[in-house]
Amino acid sequence: MKIGIASDHAGYEMKRYLIQYLKKEGFEVIDFGPDILKKVDYPDYGAKASMALSTGEIDRAILICGTGIGMSIIANRFPGVRAALCYTPFLAEIARLHNDANALALGGRIIANELACEIARVFLETKFCGGRHRRGSKKIEKLALQRFMK
Ligand code: RB5
Repeated sequence: MKIGIASDHAGYEMKRYLIQYLKKEGFEVIDFGPDILKKVDYPDYGAKASMALSTGEIDRAILICGTGIGMSIIANRFPGVRAALCYTPFLAEIARLHNDANALALGGRIIANELACEIARVFLETKFCGGRHRRGSKKIEKLALQRFMK
């Protein structure tokens, strides 16, 4: 599974920590930046990873800013991207089981790095349960497509 990861300055340290953890766990990780700790705008890097997810270049995205809010907003603008802001492993589990979320947004200023790793692990290991929940995802895609066609 190919994981794309991106942050802004407020999520930079957590991004580095997560990259190490994910590689150790055997995931292929593509870093969409930034490469150094500097003040940046979260949409610039969030969009790069979200675009890669939207086009199928990566299978999952992990996006980190101060709160995770900005990253989830930008990610959800991209077709086929279903980003969920998760502060607990339980939210990550439900985001996968029920929402088939493919992007995980995290708040670098809100939770500890160790908790972020646990949330990411649950997010990457949990499968979409399908069934009646597939209807919800399909309705969202249909609405997004209608808006795009107008
Ligand atoms: C940056 O200071 C901060 O506003 C940003 O990381 C994020 O929290 C936006 O949603």
